[in-house]
Amino acid sequence: MLSLLWFATGIVPAFPVPTWPHGNKDIQSTLASIEERLKDLVANEKYGTTSFSVQLTSNTESLWTQFHTARKFNESRPGDRHVDGDSVYRIASISKLFTTLGLLYQHDAGNVSLDDPISKYIPKLSGDLPWDDITLRILASQLSGIPRETVQSDIINLVEDPTAFGLPPVSRDGLPTCDEYSGFERPCNWTDILDALSKFQPIFAPNQKSTYSNAAFELIGLVLEKVSGEKYEDYIQHAIFDPLGMKSSTFKTPSDKHAVIPSGETYWGINEGSQNPTGGIYSTASDMTKFVRYIMTHFNTLATGVNWLMPASPSGGIYNFYGMPFEIFRTDKLLEDSARPVTFVTKGGGLPAYSSKVIVMPEYGLGLTVLVGGEADLLDEIIEIVTVDLLRAVEKIIWKEVEEVYSGVYTAIDPSLNSTLVLSASPSTGLIINSWISNSTVVYSDSATKKDNPIMNILTGSTESDEDEDQEPPVRLQLSPTLLYKNESAQQGQIWMLTASYARDGKQRKVWDDDCTADVDSGGAYAGISITKGVFWLEDEVLELPGWRVKTKRTGSKGGKSPAFFKQDL
Ligand SMILES: *[C@@H]1O[C@H](CO)[C@@H](O)[C@H](O)[C@H]1NC(C)=O
Ligand SMILES: *[C@@H]1O[C@H](CO)[C@@H](O)[C@H](O)[C@H]1NC(C)=O
Ligand SMILES: *[C@@H]1O[C@H](CO)[C@@H](O)[C@H](O)[C@H]1NC(C)=O
Ligand SMILES: *[C@@H]1O[C@H](CO)[C@@H](O)[C@H](O)[C@H]1NC(C)=O
Ligand SMILES: *[C@@H]1O[C@H](CO)[C@@H](O)[C@H](O)[C@H]1NC(C)=O
Ligand SMILES: *[C@@H]1O[C@H](CO)[C@@H](O)[C@H](O)[C@H]1NC(C)=O
Repeated sequence: MLSLLWFATGIVPAFPVPTWPHGNKDIQSTLASIEERLKDLVANEKYGTTSFSVQLTSNTESLWTQFHTARKFNESRPGDRHVDGDSVYRIASISKLFTTLGLLYQHDAGNVSLDDPISKYIPKLSGDLPWDDITLRILASQLSGIPRETVQSDIINLVEDPTAFGLPPVSRDGLPTCDEYSGFERPCNWTDILDALSKFQPIFAPNQKSTYSNAAFELIGLVLEKVSGEKYEDYIQHAIFDPLGMKSSTFKTPSDKHAVIPSGETYWGINEGSQNPTGGIYSTASDMTKFVRYIMTHFNTLATGVNWLMPASPSGGIYNFYGMPFEIFRTDKLLEDSARPVTFVTKGGGLPAYSSKVIVMPEYGLGLTVLVGGEADLLDEIIEIVTVDLLRAVEKIIWKEVEEVYSGVYTAIDPSLNSTLVLSASPSTGLIINSWISNSTVVYSDSATKKDNPIMNILTGSTESDEDEDQEPPVRLQLSPTLLYKNESAQQGQIWMLTASYARDGKQRKVWDDDCTADVDSGGAYAGISITKGVFWLEDEVLELPGWRVKTKRTGSKGGKSPAFFKQDL
């Protein structure tokens, strides 16, 4: 017998966003084993001079922290010898999220439009880059096609003798005179950035193809200065750090007391000047957790028409997308019991001696901050362990909760009706309907063939004349939450959709079998009301099927189980 991996649905969530009660025992034991794995990891000789801070949060509170202090320091400048949630790192390119959030605030206030060209705000832009076609949205989405760097990463500054690489001897005339070109003596200002940009050619045409650009965020920083009338750093301080209570976050070099200063080459203390909007922030795990939580709870309400966690373009691999400017990774390799994809909305940062990532896992109501000072490889190793082990354990908890809160036998409240639905849940199938009788008619039974299941024919659009039924992948009747409520103000009456869920049995038949367009509402309506909507009134253990004009009640449930786990108050 083939083991089937059910897609469940990748287009809509498989379960409502959980709220994580503090002290959940199953999570605690998983986290304890993750702690052991992290301890083994950093025991490696290679990580002797490396420190890290990791913090996991739910939508409402911090769930877990883990800190590690390097075993070896630069004794002439050791910095913080006891790393914790208040230890300060450079978060490098995660700064781009702050610049973009500032832009979203300005857009929402009507002070700028994301779809205005950058040339409207910075008329002095010149050269060969097509400034009139590059909008603020395009810049923030890594779609501008302008070069990656303005005043950084020039080989002439990075190696002692470029001719040893076969490069010709060249003059430094006309090169920038700031940042690495000045041995970090003078930070770059806007004149330096705009001068540098005037000399570059595009990589791609605007809005054609995404590619990483630091320069794009330097420009957005300048736009923020122009529209707010404040210095960029002051604007971010009062618009973001202050309201979110990020007391340890700054652009100015903090004192050494809480500084994570790895021994060796480090960017601690280097003033990034006009590159601050792309990578200048210093922050801590506890501050970043506040920021991550803010993103998790506000991503779809920051500005009309903007869902901040949505992809804007395909990125490097087939599993990758760029958002604005999130780096989104989607994988079907994480879950052991299902081929359902898991989405990580991330932003990474890297500067000499610092590597970091924030990760939002929107389906799970979880967010993670990982800050590393020292050997950069540790970042990916931590992320692999924490996300994979954690989400595999979290899936088990979630499906147990789904089973308790939603599964069971639901019978019509009207005793004259012979109508019954049997629901069950498992990590591999999601929440599914096993059998469904409506007024004595069998609507669905998972033991019957497809053509004896009228509802399946409606949902999958197949006809009774289908002959090669056993050539088709198995299909099930799955329930997926829409995350909407019938009564939004009271957060009561969760609306779910009935969808056909296909299994992947390892025998892919055709290349185009992977082609799948989101079309959740294809079941149609009966006399004007959708037949694929179900409303769970959890307080009363009632499942209402509006299209079928019936209310059913769960019978014989264990009862006493609070549905609070799936009550998201966003
Ligand atoms: C929008 O611009 C006005 C005028 O400059 C300013 O008072 C206001 O604070 C700005 N809004 C935001 C969100 O910064
Ligand atoms: C940037 O620095 C250069 C060199 O010191 C100076 O000439 C220029 O006026 C500065 N530009 C700004 C905007 O401060
Ligand atoms: C140690 O710190 C001192 C003072 O900041 C610095 O000059 C030196 O280069 C550092 N040495 C190492 C190995 O990091
Ligand atoms: C149930 O089925 C009977 C017999 O077909 C029909 O008369 C009756 O109207 C149906 N009632 C409902 C509520 O569907
Ligand atoms: C309800 O309907 C099903 C399917 O037609 C039938 O097998 C069952 O006997 C009926 N139950 C009652 C109590 O009428
Ligand atoms: C929503 O629930 C609240 C609290 O139970 C109730 O007062 C209100 O009438 C409900 N609204 C609707 C539209 O049913």
